[in-house]
Amino acid sequence: MDINDKISQILTQVEQMQAQSRDELEQLRIHYLGKKGEITALFDEFRTLSKEQKAEIGASLNALKNLTANKLQEMRAGYDEQQAAENKLDLTRSAEPIALGTRHPLSLVKEEIIDIFSRVGFTVEEGPEVEDDKHVFGMLNFAPEHPARDMQDTFFVEKEEGVQKPTDILLRTHTSSVQTRVMTTQKPPIRVLCPGRVYRNEAISARAHCFFHQIEGLYIDKNVSFADLRQVLLYFAKEMFGEDTKIRLRPSYFPFTEPSAEMDISCNICGGTGCGFCKGTGWVEILGCGMVDPNVLEACGIDSKEYTGYAFGLGVERITNLKYRVKDLRLFSENDVRFLRQFSAC
Ligand code: DAH
Repeated sequence: MDINDKISQILTQVEQMQAQSRDELEQLRIHYLGKKGEITALFDEFRTLSKEQKAEIGASLNALKNLTANKLQEMRAGYDEQQAAENKLDLTRSAEPIALGTRHPLSLVKEEIIDIFSRVGFTVEEGPEVEDDKHVFGMLNFAPEHPARDMQDTFFVEKEEGVQKPTDILLRTHTSSVQTRVMTTQKPPIRVLCPGRVYRNEAISARAHCFFHQIEGLYIDKNVSFADLRQVLLYFAKEMFGEDTKIRLRPSYFPFTEPSAEMDISCNICGGTGCGFCKGTGWVEILGCGMVDPNVLEACGIDSKEYTGYAFGLGVERITNLKYRVKDLRLFSENDVRFLRQFSAC
């Protein structure tokens, strides 16, 4: 077939060409005008022709190329118009709903506790989660061989990779460590709340987790007594769980307080008559507390003859469970929106 025939054959094809989609259109462009396209090939062939032949064919070959390019351009414009019509803004359409986040229940309860204590003069202090032995145990009067220092209970931070112990850097096991930081840097009177995350080497289950949240309270001044401690805790219990809430303090032991106690509140689920939650006793334990041990005051550079103080520590998860009846601790850290959404109105 000579080049003239080829030109007229392609011309007929181009005049009839149609595309069902943008993709097809692009295929057509490649087919005729692409690097290896049919019209491009004709131009290659054209280059091999004699001068006379070139003069004869040049115009029709160029015309074919232009026609093809124009036709493709027209078809593309048709698609663009169609697309613009499809994309046209519908200003009457109602807005897409914006998904709002919710406060985490632990944050809600933490804020509420801080709010209650701030009304009686407590301010907030925070301390590091990666701590040293001195601030978590030593200055808090823990004996050198105390089991809390054991690797079974505490996460130690490796100073060098693979070298686990001995190291005195660890993840704090309680927020009582912030007490020692505050007492060494501030002068009495001190009245602080120290909220934060704590870590313990525990197997994760519905009732235990390797991290949880505590709030520590500390009040140091002249003449602070156990009666002051009891009064502030009673105030807290009533504000948090309702005016009818009763408290009881049971003797206990903590290395950093003397005397020490654990506080129960009347079960807010059965009202104190006994139920599954309080195991039929009518009481649930919510915190540990006591008078700051003079050894702790002295270790922090506070004169224990001039000053006394009280401290308490409560678990935020525990209070949240009581308030919202969350039965499985793992829910707090799984980020399941079905759980979190339930607090959107709180
Ligand atoms: N640190 C204790 C714990 O993690 C809680 C605690 C008990 C804090 C008694 C105190 C306190 O300040 O006086 O179990």
